[in-house]
Amino acid sequence: MTPPVPTAARPLPKARDVLAPPLCDAQGRVMTYLRLSVTDRCNFRCAYCSPAHWGGTKDLLTPDELERFTRVFARMGLRRVRLTGGEPLLRPDIVDIARRVSRVPGVAHVAMTTNASRLALLASPLRDAGVSQLNVSLDTLDESTFRRISPRGELSDVLRGIDAAATAGFASQKLNVVVMKGVNDAEAPAIIRYAHQRGYTPRFIELMPFGRGEGVPTRTLIESIRQAGIALEPDDAPKEDTSGPARYLRAPTGRVGFVSPMTENFCGGCNRLRVSAKGELRSCLGGRSQVPLAQLVRGGASDEELAWAIRRALGEKQEGHRFNDPQATGALLSMMGIGG
Ligand code: 5AD
Ligand code: SF4
Repeated sequence: MTPPVPTAARPLPKARDVLAPPLCDAQGRVMTYLRLSVTDRCNFRCAYCSPAHWGGTKDLLTPDELERFTRVFARMGLRRVRLTGGEPLLRPDIVDIARRVSRVPGVAHVAMTTNASRLALLASPLRDAGVSQLNVSLDTLDESTFRRISPRGELSDVLRGIDAAATAGFASQKLNVVVMKGVNDAEAPAIIRYAHQRGYTPRFIELMPFGRGEGVPTRTLIESIRQAGIALEPDDAPKEDTSGPARYLRAPTGRVGFVSPMTENFCGGCNRLRVSAKGELRSCLGGRSQVPLAQLVRGGASDEELAWAIRRALGEKQEGHRFNDPQATGALLSMMGIGG
């Protein structure tokens, strides 16, 4: 057997290789999905949401910068982009951003997570700009519960926004429901009916302890939905290619998703990277994997320099030898995933 070549003796890859796919993390998982936060502001301030979302970062990424990052990531193999926030539709230039991101060569799919409050106005322009899928936050159908969870929002705006999106052609919206004990957990059957009557997929998310409220474990929620008379069976349909964290069950009327960040560890299949509103790259694995991309770009970094910084932060050693280095993987294993 040939002895392994000592790391130091290996030739470094040529600079032009650094932008070529695949983009892997320290455990060899191929990254294909990019979440771009376009703002940390939100007009709802939901009780459970991280205070970080209330921020107000001064130097948000410009459309040029967002497009540039998308280009670099797409050259490295990322194929799906999700625009998130805060509330992405608060940005006056969001349609321009969506158009530019969706035109980047290699980007096959652009989605958005939104609270729907401005969708009545923007659903059609977003669709024309190339956004093909929406995840909408809808925690309740009840006015007073809504005011309790999202005191600054208007439920009627949200419901109107969801309808407008369907009319604009977003046929398969996913409705994200963060489940709170004693607040909206009893509404799950009603939300399932509302969603399935319109062709949407509800997804119930375990509350993560960023803000206020007490969560409900997925197992408990499933039991209570069954007790309310909705049969939930294993879903035999092939899994969507997003390999996201949701697990699906089948009700007689359609699919029901469950995202269980608190009771299940789903990082094994993770294929996603995040860029925060401040322009920092974060892998889903938390820990040290953070690159001040905005700072690098504003300092004049080339695409190659950005790509090196990204690869280094993901735990890839320059030789591309990354599967069995406990030092590289150890620092990345702590996981703080966010559903949706
Ligand atoms: N727990 C779970 N999900 C959350 N989200 C925000 N805060 C939390 C939390 N504490 C998710 C929800 C919401 C989206 C914007 O972020 O899915 O719809
Ligand atoms: Fe957070 Fe979304 Fe609620 Fe805004 S609408 S506060 S981003 S959960």
